[in-house]
Amino acid sequence: MISKQGNESALRIGVLTGGGDCPGLNAVIRAVVMTAVLSYGDSVAGFHDGWKGVLESRATELRVEDCRDLLTQGGTILGTSRTNPFAMENGIAKVKEGLDAAGVNALVAIGGDDTLGVATKLYESGIPVVGVPKTIDNDLSGTELTFGFDTAVQIATEAIDRLKTTAESHHRVIVCEVMGRSAGWIATYAGIAGGVAEIIVPERPFDVDQVCQRIVKRHTSGQYSSIIVIGEGSTLVPGPDRDGMERAMQDMARDAFGHARLGGIGSWLATEVEKRTGFEARVTILGHVQRGGTPTAFDRVLATRFGVAAVRAIHGGAVGNMVALRCGQVVTLPLEEGTRETKFLDMELYDGVARALLG
Ligand code: F6P
Repeated sequence: MISKQGNESALRIGVLTGGGDCPGLNAVIRAVVMTAVLSYGDSVAGFHDGWKGVLESRATELRVEDCRDLLTQGGTILGTSRTNPFAMENGIAKVKEGLDAAGVNALVAIGGDDTLGVATKLYESGIPVVGVPKTIDNDLSGTELTFGFDTAVQIATEAIDRLKTTAESHHRVIVCEVMGRSAGWIATYAGIAGGVAEIIVPERPFDVDQVCQRIVKRHTSGQYSSIIVIGEGSTLVPGPDRDGMERAMQDMARDAFGHARLGGIGSWLATEVEKRTGFEARVTILGHVQRGGTPTAFDRVLATRFGVAAVRAIHGGAVGNMVALRCGQVVTLPLEEGTRETKFLDMELYDGVARALLG
């Protein structure tokens, strides 16, 4: 096992991807394998389907030649799952067994708050792990940016550009629901980039009547169509409308980490806008389109930097840390610190820039 003092000799490194997939995961895997093998003479075992693969001891040898063409590929060649070892009996012991069976000395866990939360607890139980933050939601407090976010924003912006031309042709209101869970980063970035009429985010509960009033004002002052971007985790200010919305969306399933499966607020809003304004309204829920496909150049570079840094962190003795972006530099910080809280939207950006242009 490797220690805090670091290790210059060759290691057997395990790598896994957990949680929702996101563009750039394969770029991290590639960087981990190439750095480990070419710079340190390590070997790498890739666990399948996140923590599930560790628990079931399912791993594949990853060689440099397996990384050909990986940089541009979306998804994750290792597969992923939302398995939580702490939600089962003897989870830690089973993780240790799985790592030992693959002969792994240290692990690179690539994931969002759930996967890195598990990594944090495993490290506290003596497992040498380094975290790599990923998520399209960009909601991890330890890092200024996660890879996947830029790609998701690019996809959402392109969708908004397309929705605009059809909305204009039909003089419609189109509600575009984007992912992001309880954080409005994708909604705000894509909304600003797409120059939309309204941006609604989870951090700021909204009043549906006020939204409708602004739409009516807009449509009676020369604009005959509107795009409303809404983050999937958005909610209404308390009151009867909110009660009605919650009733309409009460059947949301939960995953192994207890998160509700979000989605549907956009459809609810489009119905209400049409009812209250009389303007024809439609909804587009972008959903998993935002997570699929090839990463942008920015995300390829960030994912590669993170992958290289993770292996260097292992050899430098920085286990128990995650890699992160701070002031443009890739740094390491304790996993526990980096996963402590959700990074909500910067409200200066929302109020000072996004809303400032909405009138
Ligand atoms: O956390 C990433 C994310 O894509 C969220 O934006 C979204 O709510 C969720 O995952 C969707 O999860 P699933 O893949 O389980 O549908």
